[in-house]
Amino acid sequence: MTPQFAVISGAQVHQAVSGRETEVTEMVEAAYRLHGEGQTANPDSYFLRFPDRPADRIIALPASVKGDVDVHGIKWISSFPGNVAAGLPRASAVLILNDLHTGYPIACLEASIISAARTAASAASAAVRLSAARGVAPRRLGVVGAGVIARYTYRYLRANGLDFEAVGVHDLSSEHAAGFGDHLRREGERNVELHDSIEGLLADSDLVLFTTVAGEPYVSDPALFRHAPLVLHLSLRDLGTDVILDAWNVVDDVEHVLKAGTSVHLTEQRTGNRDFIAGTLCDVLTGRIAAPADRPVVFSPFGLGVLDLVLAKHVYDRVAADGALSTVPDFFHDLQRYG
Ligand SMILES: NC(=O)c1ccc[n+]([C@@H]2O[C@H](COP(=O)([O-])OP(=O)(O)OC[C@H]3O[C@@H](n4cnc5c(N)ncnc54)[C@H](O)[C@@H]3O)[C@@H](O)[C@H]2O)c1
Repeated sequence: MTPQFAVISGAQVHQAVSGRETEVTEMVEAAYRLHGEGQTANPDSYFLRFPDRPADRIIALPASVKGDVDVHGIKWISSFPGNVAAGLPRASAVLILNDLHTGYPIACLEASIISAARTAASAASAAVRLSAARGVAPRRLGVVGAGVIARYTYRYLRANGLDFEAVGVHDLSSEHAAGFGDHLRREGERNVELHDSIEGLLADSDLVLFTTVAGEPYVSDPALFRHAPLVLHLSLRDLGTDVILDAWNVVDDVEHVLKAGTSVHLTEQRTGNRDFIAGTLCDVLTGRIAAPADRPVVFSPFGLGVLDLVLAKHVYDRVAADGALSTVPDFFHDLQRYG
């Protein structure tokens, strides 16, 4: 049988995932559990960097999930922060699914939506599970870095049952902060405050979301976190090592996140150990560890390719079930061994 190759557009991905935030969150939690059980292969991400363009990068995330999920492939995601000023999102991505019987690639999906959705779902899962253990649901969200990932994460937090009496926004760009504030009001938030200073935002928030593009830590005073907020540190490089050392830290995968100059990586380099990491989100999901209420709690997820693949498989199956798979005729050519 000749293998078929399909292309799945961003519009199809959007249709397959939007409005299904809780389902996507459950899928992402299941993927974390499979990863924790050793049912996945998730090699190191590979960073392609450009010596003359230090802000830009393209990352390859190959991954494989065994068992019923049975999905294998790679996400290839670009981060070009300069795009934003030109009116284009920072991140763009494709994801290739491979068939494990033949190895053949079977589909190419637009993957920026998949990537944002799995990131947001992972953050929402952490927020819900960690705050449940602390015995109090956060009511005051503070967003640092008001871009695409902040927008998706806010949607997933709400869809997973968090309800805010106030949302604060801080961004280096007042235009981005204002745009996100308008978005929040359109989503029904009544109490939205834009903060010029990050100190004011942190003091006002019991749930803090970092989604900046900072390359190096710029929040270094642990006193800013004395009120023990829950911190979703998605951008990974905002917090100084003293803040990390003062907090109860949970990550997605210890080996992965202790790389690439993340705040926890810098903390490991400074201390020479990993003792400051309490465990993984999978450990939280299985109840092996529980977050304390009287210390700041910081979730630092490196972002696992297995999450992208699990969600991509779901999208592929949905599009196929709808009879809407668009295959490329003759994509594979010259398949006869001797011509
Ligand atoms: N951990 C993960 O799994 C994961 C997955 C996807 C994206 N991310 C990260 O999320 C971050 C946000 O991505 P995005 O697509 O929303 O980017 P974006 O460019 O759309 O938005 C980033 C925003 O941060 C603001 N900003 C930059 N530096 C700041 C600072 N020091 N203080 C306050 N605001 C600042 C920018 O003005 C911009 O509005 C990126 O760092 C990306 O790598 C993490």
